[in-house]
Amino acid sequence: MSDQWYLDTVFYELYLRAFQDSNGDGHGDFGGAIERLDYIKSLGVECIWILPHYPSPLKDDGYDVADYMGVHPDYGTLDDFKAFVAAAHQRGLRVIIDLVMNHCSDQHPWFQAARQDRNSPYHDYFVWSDTGQEYADTRIIFLDTEKSNWTYDEAAGRYFWHRFYSSQPDLNYDNPAIHEEMFNIIRFWLDTGVDGFRADAVPYLYEREGTNCENLPETHVFLKKVRRLIDEEYPGRVLIAEANQWPEDLLPYFGNGDEFQICFHFPIMPRLYMALKQADKTPIVDILARTPAIPEGCQWMTFLRNHDELTLEMVTPEERQWMWQQYAPKPRMRLNLGIRRRLAPLLDNHPDRWLLLNALHLSLPGTPIIYYGDEIGMGDDIWLPDRHGCRTPMQWNAEHQAGFSTAEETYFPVISDPVFGYQFVNVALQEMNEDSYLWRTRKLIKTRQHAAALRRGTMEIIPTRNPAILVYWRVLPDERVLCLYNLSMHPQPLGGSLSGIFHDLLHPGKRSITLSPDMELPGYATHWLEMAQL
Ligand code: GLC
Repeated sequence: MSDQWYLDTVFYELYLRAFQDSNGDGHGDFGGAIERLDYIKSLGVECIWILPHYPSPLKDDGYDVADYMGVHPDYGTLDDFKAFVAAAHQRGLRVIIDLVMNHCSDQHPWFQAARQDRNSPYHDYFVWSDTGQEYADTRIIFLDTEKSNWTYDEAAGRYFWHRFYSSQPDLNYDNPAIHEEMFNIIRFWLDTGVDGFRADAVPYLYEREGTNCENLPETHVFLKKVRRLIDEEYPGRVLIAEANQWPEDLLPYFGNGDEFQICFHFPIMPRLYMALKQADKTPIVDILARTPAIPEGCQWMTFLRNHDELTLEMVTPEERQWMWQQYAPKPRMRLNLGIRRRLAPLLDNHPDRWLLLNALHLSLPGTPIIYYGDEIGMGDDIWLPDRHGCRTPMQWNAEHQAGFSTAEETYFPVISDPVFGYQFVNVALQEMNEDSYLWRTRKLIKTRQHAAALRRGTMEIIPTRNPAILVYWRVLPDERVLCLYNLSMHPQPLGGSLSGIFHDLLHPGKRSITLSPDMELPGYATHWLEMAQL
């Protein structure tokens, strides 16, 4: 197996609490997830990213880690974790876990010791101030809840630094002991057999006066050490960066191919929604032009949705207002600088829009990741707090608790509204309908996995006079696929100089398509085309 397996793999983001409850306590767990691995495999994805599984008071749903080497009791034991990884591997599925290096929970023994005794070695595990005035140029990320990145701790009699909730004190990377702790944590989990990490919130590890405390050179020095450890001791495992930054600021996270293998491409995501709503490809074409070339063996990770709000940090203030008006008309749909809605509701549950956006996603350069539940078009519950409305139980069937749990009450209610309720949107129903979102997901992934050009090919955008028509080649020396989308709901002239006879990979049984500059494409037309005669 190649060490660069992640270049060809479709990933699946799994929220354990939501997936399957095996012991009837209303919370999903590793035992349940094992039961559902065959389903995951059936999608055609080949790697699962699980959201944080660590012991935690759950003030940030597990991103507030209270023990880096344990498993949250809701999810099971360390043996259950290992059984899950083994069962996934048996099926040819890889598993990566979340690595939360920037901060821990205020319930972590390190912080408890740190606040109680300034002379404790753990005091220096955190970032303290007597005034709470330092690093004033640093933005606040959780704008809706936090007023400052400093919070006063009564026991310590000092302020501590935190980039997220005040229950998540930042770790002090100026203290080499933290590096050693992280290296041990990394080794501990790699020894269980996991295939890598999605590294959470990496731009914020260090603080320096007079900067915005993001993307600092010291951060890259540390991250390169993490990569070196992995390459030397655990070759073939992958490191993925969550850095919500502009493409030019992301480039250093790849280093010279000696830092992260993969970085999430945050800026392209909102522009896919923008382009679709405006029926104008310009936002996509512009951000791709602004995306630099990356070192050999590195890759972008693309996504439509994830467990967080649809972030609008990487757009202009005007674009953000427009996105909110278009996609989050009700105030409860908004959170911080984003939109807390799921994919299908964002697309008004429109099957053609859904197909177009998913096909576009799966044909862009990069490694795609799909958020659990979006493959069946699950809905959201904007009345739940924080980002929980997009983290509701998986809808397996129309039975008790959507087949997720036998409990009377689940951690959050199953969606049961008249459009997205589990009675109408569930795996069992969609299994029986080959035109369902579920089968379309399978087909898109399968087609992508058979067409190397869609995974590895370079991208050549073809200029067209019509802004609604997005068309590009994905090109390898011996294979090329033409991706063609009409972003408008109305029929549109192709408007380019394209011509020729093509087969549609998405509709292999159908007659071939003849392209000509003056032809008209139906609204939301979506094609992956191969030349009939080369
Ligand atoms: C990342 C996670 C998010 C979490 C935050 C703090 O952005 O995706 O869910 O709240 O980090 O750990």
